[in-house]
Amino acid sequence: MLLTDDAPAHGHHANPAFCRDIVDGLSSTPKATPPIWFYDRHGSELFEQITDLTEYYPTRTETALLAAHGADFASAVGAGRAVVEFGAGSARKTPHLLRAIDPAAYVPIDISGDFLRTSSAELAAAFPGLPVLPLVGDFNGPLTLPAAIDGLPRLGFFPGSTIGNMEPDAAVDLLRAMRRLLADDAMLLIGMDRIKDRDRLIAAYDDASGVTAAFNMNLVTRINRELDGDMPADGLIHRALWNDEKARIEMHLEAVRPLHFHVAGHCFHMETGETIHTESSHKYGERDRRLLLRAGGWEPVEEWTDPQELFSLILAKAS
Ligand code: AVJ
Repeated sequence: MLLTDDAPAHGHHANPAFCRDIVDGLSSTPKATPPIWFYDRHGSELFEQITDLTEYYPTRTETALLAAHGADFASAVGAGRAVVEFGAGSARKTPHLLRAIDPAAYVPIDISGDFLRTSSAELAAAFPGLPVLPLVGDFNGPLTLPAAIDGLPRLGFFPGSTIGNMEPDAAVDLLRAMRRLLADDAMLLIGMDRIKDRDRLIAAYDDASGVTAAFNMNLVTRINRELDGDMPADGLIHRALWNDEKARIEMHLEAVRPLHFHVAGHCFHMETGETIHTESSHKYGERDRRLLLRAGGWEPVEEWTDPQELFSLILAKAS
């Protein structure tokens, strides 16, 4: 289990998984780093700001779907489940779901521990009587659910199209791990972003006010602080592009001049125009969504979308 908070400066007690992922990622060709490392405290705050941007439609669209379809969730899911949320973050969408379905417990899982504790306390205050059992950890690794929910039927909640950060094979592995963790009779409510107009997709990841650029660049700041790095922030710029062949938005950090820098005692260089691929955000077509879920051991039950068909919420049951 990874604990990413309160990491000391200068790398003396740097998170070894962070160090390994970044050094490996900068050593590979092309350079690529896993997106989980965006989410230190400042990165989590920047992501919250992203969700308020005019251009970033996913959060508000999904939240509206959750607010609008509570009665559907209640009848399809029933009361008394333990809701297990993967990558809960600020969990601002969750109250809509909890209010609708009358759950027996709520287990938010997030890699950013102090962020998770704050949001869990707020949620517990808003739902007196509901056991809120936060779990700090990386949902891509092994997890143990709190014993307090033993024997309760589970509803996995995986909003935000976070599944889209994963390559298809890793997405299937994660869905299968969730299927195992949540056990028989489980259900899963998952948000999946849809393929749409290219310009609209790119604008969502390259907003006019530069918040997404700051989110991407914060990785450089974090590497320099926690891994004893000297990456030149003024030598890298934010890039967002649509990879049509792979149906995904990619975020990169592109070198604007030849760069030489160090991270955790290792030397790296970049040529002008070379990039570090920092995130992929896959988008899903009509059948892609159901195919992915079925490959992951989940049978789709119901799907909700907004009038513009920007985003989908899908309820599935363990198969
Ligand atoms: C939290 C992974 C769903 O891919 O849209 C937002 C992260 N990156 N803007 C996404 C993100 C840039 C977001 N997810």
